Amino acid sequence: MAPLLAPSLLAADFGRLSDETALLRTPGAADWLHCDVMDGRFVPNISFGLPVVEAISRSAGGLPLDVHLMIEEPGRYLDAFARAGATGLTVHYEACPHLHRVLEQIRALGCLSGVALNPHTPVAVLADIIADVELVLIMSVNPGFGGQNFIEHTYQKIAEARALIERTSARTGRPIRLQVDGGVGEGNIGRLVEAGADVLVAGSSVFGGGDPVAALRNLRRAAAEKQYQGQ
Ligand code: DX5
Ligand code: ZN
Repeated sequence: MAPLLAPSLLAADFGRLSDETALLRTPGAADWLHCDVMDGRFVPNISFGLPVVEAISRSAGGLPLDVHLMIEEPGRYLDAFARAGATGLTVHYEACPHLHRVLEQIRALGCLSGVALNPHTPVAVLADIIADVELVLIMSVNPGFGGQNFIEHTYQKIAEARALIERTSARTGRPIRLQVDGGVGEGNIGRLVEAGADVLVAGSSVFGGGDPVAALRNLRRAAAEKQYQGQ
C-alpha cells in the first residue's frame, strides 16, 4: 500500500481552522486528516473535543477523518465521535481493559478500528487482538504534545508491528494499516517507510514552516523514494 500522509491539526492555527483544513485538501497534500483528542487524564494535556472535530469534518471535503483518542474510557464517546464525522477511531491499548469490545463497537459504527501503543508498550501485546484491528498506531513520542523529539527505538517497533501485520494479513486476507505518530519529518520519513509504516502523521513538520502544502509535498517526495524493505 502506498504511504499515506495524515497531517495533525493539533499544530494548525485554531483561529483559522477551516482555512487550514481547506488548504490540506489541495491535490497532493493530505490523504487523511489526523485529529488529536486529549482529555487531561489519559495524557497530561487537553486539546479539543467533539465540536471541533465536527467543525473539521465540515471543512474536510470528504477527506477521511482519522481521530486519535488519547482519553480514558474511550468506549463512552465512540458513537459521538462517529456522529461528529470520524471515519477512523483509534483508541489506546493502555486505556482499554476491554479492547476487543471497543474495537467491535468501532467497526459497528462503520469506522476504521485502530489501536495505539505508547512508546513503552511492546508490540507483542497485540498478538491476540491483531486479527480484529484495522490500523495499528505506534507512538513515536509520549502522547500529549506536538513538537517532541522522535524516539529512535520506534524503528524497531515499526519493523516488529509490520512483521505481525504481514503474518496476520496472509492468514486473514485483510489489510491492516501501520501508522506512526510523533516527531515525523523529512529527516526520518523515508526510514519509517522502509521499516514498514504506511500512514505517517505529522504536525509541527507540516505547519511549523508556514506552508503546509509545500511541506506535505516534500514529505511525500521523501516517502515515495523508499519502500518497505521486508524482514
Ligand atoms: C501527540 C499527537 C500527535 C502530534 C504530533 O500526542 O498524537 O499526533 O500532533 O505532532 P508532531 O508531528 O509535532 O510530533
Ligand atoms: Zn496523534
